[in-house]
Amino acid sequence: MKEILEQLEAKRQTARAGGGQKRIDAQHAKGKLTARERIDLLLDEGSFEEFDMFVEHRATDFGMADQKVPGDGVVTGWGTINGRTVFVFSKDFTVFGGSLSSAHAQKILKVQRQALKMGAPIIGLFDAGGARIQEGVDSLAGYADIFLENTLASGVIPQIAVIMGPCAGGDVYSPAIMDFIFMVKDTSYMYVTGPDVVKTVTHEDVSHEDLGGYRVHALKSGVADGAFENDLEALTQVRRLIDFLPLSNREKPPERESFDEPEREEPSLDTLVPANPNKPYDMKELISKVVDEADFFEISPDFAKNIVCGFARMEGRTVGVVANQPQVLAGVLDIDASRKAARFVRFCDAFSIPLITFVDVPGFMPGTRQEQGGLIRHGAKLLFAYAEATVPKLTVITRKAYGGAYDVMSSKHIRGDLNYAWPTAEIAVMGSKGAVEIIFRNQTADELVAREAEYKERFANPFVAASRGYIDDVIMPHGTRRRLVRGLRSLQGKSLQNPWKKHDNIPL
Ligand code: HXC
Repeated sequence: MKEILEQLEAKRQTARAGGGQKRIDAQHAKGKLTARERIDLLLDEGSFEEFDMFVEHRATDFGMADQKVPGDGVVTGWGTINGRTVFVFSKDFTVFGGSLSSAHAQKILKVQRQALKMGAPIIGLFDAGGARIQEGVDSLAGYADIFLENTLASGVIPQIAVIMGPCAGGDVYSPAIMDFIFMVKDTSYMYVTGPDVVKTVTHEDVSHEDLGGYRVHALKSGVADGAFENDLEALTQVRRLIDFLPLSNREKPPERESFDEPEREEPSLDTLVPANPNKPYDMKELISKVVDEADFFEISPDFAKNIVCGFARMEGRTVGVVANQPQVLAGVLDIDASRKAARFVRFCDAFSIPLITFVDVPGFMPGTRQEQGGLIRHGAKLLFAYAEATVPKLTVITRKAYGGAYDVMSSKHIRGDLNYAWPTAEIAVMGSKGAVEIIFRNQTADELVAREAEYKERFANPFVAASRGYIDDVIMPHGTRRRLVRGLRSLQGKSLQNPWKKHDNIPL
């Protein structure tokens, strides 16, 4: 018996050693942790239960029959984050560059299916060279099976990808279907085809970093929802994110004790909005002063900064916050901002997370670049996302709510449950200057100044909208937290269903 136990331990040691010390040292030399070290940091200490440690590939071509490493390049299983179950897979770059064989794919599929069945999030840690070149079509089949599971799980369990090394070819599309993608600065990159193929096809010389580093995806393409300094920070932040999320769409978002007075007043908010309507202010200051303990997990903080999205808590319960940011492009809605916020709103709605929207928006971005880029279709995404959302929706207009953007930003007309405005709100078809220049086209400059004052007096306030019932109340800025907390309490029993359909046809 003792001998058998020793054999088991020896087998486990072989699996834990992955591709061997030399390759582990190379991994560390690049500033990267190993697949197992990452899991240890992600999960609660000692909570990891591994599956399929002894799985080996079955390939025989290209001398592969003699090259087998137990585990086959991916570590899979489950554990807990602050006591709550999550499933994980972590690609082991030290074994065939983390590349995907048929057996490796079967391991990932097993945890994906288990996570879906149990109703628990899945977290994938990526560090891999794509399809196992020696396995050909079996590898492609494995990817497609994974993509299918990702798709079926979408909206049922949260799916999070962390890119912690190369992520190429087949490996990019699983993260792309998941809910959030995070990258590690300087050590991770993701692209469909790497620099060598790019060179052959387009004759472009490009580095890994310029093709798919965090600067590309977290700042420009919006593919990544954030980038962190190193493995440790990325994994710590994923733990923080998981704390905000329900384990599945069968659950309500988690509640945790809050030490922040729910009805706390914030007098400094009364002077947040500058007297000059063209002067910016920081919308994040409002968010951090309103939510519990100023704790805000921002999604895509460096992409489309003209809109701010993220998770916070009110009275200990998770809320999704969407807010125009007057500090960047005056908070205008453009293609990127619409795409970013639409995805966030849909995630919150899928997982029963109430939405709080702070509005200060001068409209949609004008111009040929935006129109040629399809602003109509992309802007419609955000409109559609808000309109279809059935979670509690609370809106506070702090200043501008102009034109179509007023309608889009969780207005009463698209089923906003509680719509408040600060006394500084201006709800109008457009800014007063632009408005009078159109309707009084033939008047002199002096006359236009008078007309503008008249227009401002009539429309640049919240009271016309309030007189129609489009705004439920004009509230004092310092009482915003109290009003939102009370509103959220009153909406806890909200029940609203959209008409039956196979699925909708969101303007993709
Ligand atoms: C098998 C692979 C591999 C792969 C890397 N390795 N990629 N083995 N299949 N796809 C192995 C290497 O042979 C090497 O083994 C070890 O992993 C480390 O690789 P290096 O090249 O030494 O590392 P590095 O210099 O850091 O470069 C990493 C890399 C590069 C940029 C990822 O390895 C690379 O370009 N790999 C190929 C990427 C690729 O084209 N994949 C196929 C994509 S197509 P040893 O034994 O020396 O340690 C695809 C189609 C699916 O994925 C589409 C589905 C939709």
